Amino acid sequence: MDALITLLPGDGIGPEVTAAAHRALKQVAEVYGHTFRFEVKLVGGAAIDETGSPLPPDTMASCMDSAAVFLGAVGGPKWSGPHAMVRPEKGLLELRAELGVYANLRPVKVMDELVDASPLKAGIIRGVDLVVVRELTGGIYFGKKTRDETVASDLCVYHTHEVERIVRVAARLASGRRNKVCSVDKANVLETSRLWRDVADRTLEREFPEIETETLLVDAAAMHLLSRPRDFDVIVTENMFGDILTDEASMLAGSMGMLPSASLGDSTRGLYEPIHGSAPDIAGLDVANPCAAIASAAMLLRHSLSLVEEADAVDAAIAAAIAAGARTADIARDGETPISTTEMTDRILAGLG
Ligand code: IPM
Ligand code: MN
Repeated sequence: MDALITLLPGDGIGPEVTAAAHRALKQVAEVYGHTFRFEVKLVGGAAIDETGSPLPPDTMASCMDSAAVFLGAVGGPKWSGPHAMVRPEKGLLELRAELGVYANLRPVKVMDELVDASPLKAGIIRGVDLVVVRELTGGIYFGKKTRDETVASDLCVYHTHEVERIVRVAARLASGRRNKVCSVDKANVLETSRLWRDVADRTLEREFPEIETETLLVDAAAMHLLSRPRDFDVIVTENMFGDILTDEASMLAGSMGMLPSASLGDSTRGLYEPIHGSAPDIAGLDVANPCAAIASAAMLLRHSLSLVEEADAVDAAIAAAIAAGARTADIARDGETPISTTEMTDRILAGLG
């Protein structure tokens, strides 16, 4: 297979974890005989510094030409004052919108070996295996914003077709798993959530009668994620609720550094990013956990390139390194010696092919 992949290292620890994902993809190409061509482009704060824009046209053009895009992280204190004129995050939001990747898949799987890395009780989290399907190109992230001296507003808008398509993604995903979809909204307060609930109920009932469905209000969902996380299979929710719930859910898996994501639209071209941010406090120290980035590369192989065997091999290599005791600082417990980003990547890649 021959494929063009755009790499967007971005800010903070973004370049370090992107380097890890890049190494994993290069090794897959070598071992399995594929030709991956890589373009490295600017995004976020790094792009603002260089060009004044968080998503320069040249970056966007390369992403549009690619089979898949990998992004490290964007943002940092340098660009985030309350009065910043242009923000790194804007580049990421534009990129998601331009690529049309409305479905953000965030799998949360608790590895047995990491049960004790989580601050939560082993008895509650052991065996957790869920996916949050977050709507990514609508809602309050993209509605009209206003601001003057004393008042500000953010508009939240959802269209029926946006809810239908994301619910379908969730239901199809559940069909290959445990056949359960939980839709999360705030229908007791928000009009967009009432539309969401009507459309989700109807779509699931008519098109996916075999799927077991559940509906939760987002505040209750935040609680149930901690009290009975094993019950969830696929959770589908709107943009901002998905953002918040997945940071919460990452603690089930032990660390944000473990959670990958895939953002997909109607074509196979996808955007792949670890869910963790740019972590400016540890940037450049070679201590960030590369697992989320490497697992995102595995999702890229699986969803955009249909290289299922290769994707499984990368996931297995991550699991093997963890099982053999390799731990970056975020998942090391007392008495375990943490290793660097580079060493963790070495340990994972040693088990690949
Ligand atoms: C995420 C991030 C982004 C989001 C930020 C960086 C804009 O938190 O991918 O979860 O809110 O979507
Ligand atoms: Mn987030």
